[in-house]
Amino acid sequence: MILCSNPKAQYLARQQQIDAAIHRVLESGHYILGPEVEQFESEFAAYTGADYAVGVGSGTDALHIALMALDLGPGSEVITVSHTAVATVAAIEMAGATPVFVDIDPKSYTIDPQAIEKAITPRTKVIIPVHIYGQAADMDGVLDIARRFGLKVVEDCAQAAGTNYKNRSVGSIGDLGCFSFFPTKNLGGLGDGGMITTSDKALAERVVGLRQYGWSGSRLSREPGVNSRLDELQAAILAVKLKSLDADNQHRRNVAANYDKALAQFPINTPYRSEDSDHIFHLYVVRSDKRDALLRHLHDNGVGAAVHYAVPVHMQPAYKSLARIHSLVVTEKAAGEILSLPIYPELAKDDLQAVIGAISSFKF
Ligand SMILES: Cc1ncc(COP(=O)(O)O)c(C=O)c1O
Repeated sequence: MILCSNPKAQYLARQQQIDAAIHRVLESGHYILGPEVEQFESEFAAYTGADYAVGVGSGTDALHIALMALDLGPGSEVITVSHTAVATVAAIEMAGATPVFVDIDPKSYTIDPQAIEKAITPRTKVIIPVHIYGQAADMDGVLDIARRFGLKVVEDCAQAAGTNYKNRSVGSIGDLGCFSFFPTKNLGGLGDGGMITTSDKALAERVVGLRQYGWSGSRLSREPGVNSRLDELQAAILAVKLKSLDADNQHRRNVAANYDKALAQFPINTPYRSEDSDHIFHLYVVRSDKRDALLRHLHDNGVGAAVHYAVPVHMQPAYKSLARIHSLVVTEKAAGEILSLPIYPELAKDDLQAVIGAISSFKF
């Protein structure tokens, strides 16, 4: 089976450096929040252009802690999309706030700023744009609304490490940025991990405390927090991968360009590129009204295509009780037609050709 994403191939491509980093940590005697994490945090901050980066246990925790730092209070509403990983929405509820779903742009699949404005109430506190698949949301549109209504912006960058929006790295544009280092992510560890970025000193200090029981430097809890720390092994491994992130993202773009060219002859939509954002192709998502049959055909032919995401969050059993106040027609239609093809920097030419061959043998 040709995998949709392939974290093992990533490991093998840098095996020597990763093994050396792992041994260095094993012998150091420091395993959680030590010098490797500090080093990686400062490298990651420099990479994104944010002043601060704070390592945490996962992307979900990054969102949860970022929202905790914004003091939402009960009854607060957070506007986001339903076309995202459940994690985005789970984190809002973990922070005690109510998710309010708005629709996406049909081309980029990212939050529709016009829909945001209609969804604002006196209880709205935060907007979470999700840079889905590796392409940035319309941040000018989001920031303009946030400024006008006095709202905070938390960027969900879980799928977009290294994506730029108008020459600024995602995670440095809103008030806070949240990254995931889940192994299949384009900057993935060999376990769970996450990062919060911000250029606001007070918010940075706050999240540093919140990730460990609200501790201040003296290990006194100033406020209730959580336990969500990045470990030394993940930081050391991620530091190796960060060095080649831009090159890896470029490999992804090359694979995407090959797919674009080869698929132009078939009645499927290839991914849109916004003029304002580059696209690092965490996922390469095409669209077809025969999606389910095409997915079955690809699986039968050894291609591990997948759907991100088949069931929008507001239609999942755990979240059905959330009010569906605003139109989500674009979201619901997309969910039935989208299909993610295999993409990762190490994808072999033969495998790429095999995917294209499998598509060409499908009866559209
Ligand atoms: C858009 C989005 N947000 C948040 C997350 C949560 O990240 P994690 O799995 O590290 O908790 C993910 C990854 O699953 C994601 O894709």
